[in-house]
This record gives sequence, C-alpha cells and structure tokens, in this order.
Amino acid sequence: MSDAPPPAQFDEAGLLYSRQFDDHYFSRIDGRAECAHVFIDGNDLPLRWRQQSEQTDTHGQNFAIGELGFGTGLNFLETWRQWRDIRQPGQHLSFLSVEGFPLAAETAGQALKNWPELGALSARLLERWDQLTSPMQLDDQTRLQVLQGDVTDMVVQFPLVDAWYLDGFSPANNPEMWGGDLLRSVFERSVVGGTFASYTAAGWVRRNLESAGFMVEKRTGFGSKRHMIAGRRL
Ligand SMILES: C[S@@+](CC[C@H](N)C(=O)[O-])C[C@H]1O[C@@H](n2cnc3c(N)ncnc32)[C@H](O)[C@@H]1O
Repeated sequence: MSDAPPPAQFDEAGLLYSRQFDDHYFSRIDGRAECAHVFIDGNDLPLRWRQQSEQTDTHGQNFAIGELGFGTGLNFLETWRQWRDIRQPGQHLSFLSVEGFPLAAETAGQALKNWPELGALSARLLERWDQLTSPMQLDDQTRLQVLQGDVTDMVVQFPLVDAWYLDGFSPANNPEMWGGDLLRSVFERSVVGGTFASYTAAGWVRRNLESAGFMVEKRTGFGSKRHMIAGRRL
C-alpha cells in the first residue's frame, strides 16, 4: 500500500495514535494481548480451528476471517501466529481486511517493534507491504488481502466470512465504521454460525448489530474495559 500516510503519530509511550480519529490503534496496555482476548478468543477461533481439524476430511477446508480496519496488521499477525500453532495439514486460513488510510510500511514497522515475539512474521508482512492489495499467499496455508478504500464501498466485495474483527476506532469518534447499513452488510456476508467480536460494548453499536440479525452477548473486556461484545449469526 503506497498512498500518502495518514496523520498517525507515536505518543510519548511509543504507541501509534491517530490524530484524525483521536484514538490509539490498539490498547495502551498491550495490543497483542488485546487482539488475542477480543478478536481471537471473542470469536472462539482456537476451538473452532481445532474442531474443524477433527472433522474427518480437512483437505481443502477454508476458514475465512474478515476485518474492518487493517491498520498496522497487528491483528493479522497475532492471528497468523496462533493459527500456525493449531492448524493441521489441509486446513487453510484466508484473512481479508479493508483499510481506508493505509500506513507507510515504516510506521507499521515501528509500531510492531513492541512485539518481538511477532518479529519474524512482521518482517515477512512488511517485506510485501506494498503488494497487500493483491491476494497473497503468506505460507502454504495462509492467505491475506487488504482492500484499499472506504469501508462502505469495500464491504460489498467481501465473500462469506466465518469470523469478523470489528476494529474501526472508537464508535464515538468514527461512527461510519459502526453504522446500521454497514453492519447489515457484515451480517449478510457471514456464514450461518459465523461470528463477530469487538472491543466496544457501546449500546447503539450493540443495537445496530442486533437489528442486522446477530445474536449479541456481552463478555468481559480487555484491560480496564469492563465489557466487550461478541455475537453469532444463527
Ligand atoms: C483501530 S485501527 C485498526 C487496528 C488494526 N486492526 C491493527 O491490527 O493495527 C482502525 C483502522 O480503521 C481504519 N479506518 C477508519 N475509518 C475507516 C473507513 N471509513 N474506511 C476504511 N478504513 C477506515 C483506520 O485507518 C485504522 O487503520
């Protein structure tokens, strides 16, 4: 992704902050641990990947994740890290995200330095940063593509998804990422039994997700957040 970088900057603690949306890109406590709690566990991914692998024939089985807001790629990297530990031969992950304000590779790389445990995977992602808008095979069981453009225009290009990461900055500061029409599109692009997870438990976001058709539940939030939400298309 090569467009001009957005007005993102590092705060005094070295954490990436968006002036445009007046919000950090991830939790100030630990963005990787937040991703694991909110998005990976919130969508019950380790369990679902294991269950998929226990089915008699995993050959050609695909698990599709959709993300709204690619940012630095941290969520993708933590997902890839956990997926590599659990997956069995024949299982495939496809991760499709959307980003309207692509970061420069240097900015993403600087932000990702906070997680040396992701270092080797980050390096592989950053090497190919300028080609992320084309579908790419990051290893023989993992595919990534980042659609570049506004979420409202791009969401219609998503295929059916098994699990959604709703990660679009605070709803109060970026209501477009949490609007009723957008979340209806997310629901329509979810398989039956598909799920979503998000760090916000804002009442109007919850209601938009319920109106779209999801069963929504509150769960314990990450860090200082009391609640997050997760849900399922029945
Ligand atoms: C909280 S950050 C996402 C963090 C990211 N998932 C990560 O792992 O680094 C939210 C992202 O949504 C993007 N975004 C905000 N509004 C958008 C819009 N209308 N369309 C597309 N992307 C948008 C921002 O540029 C930002 O990268």
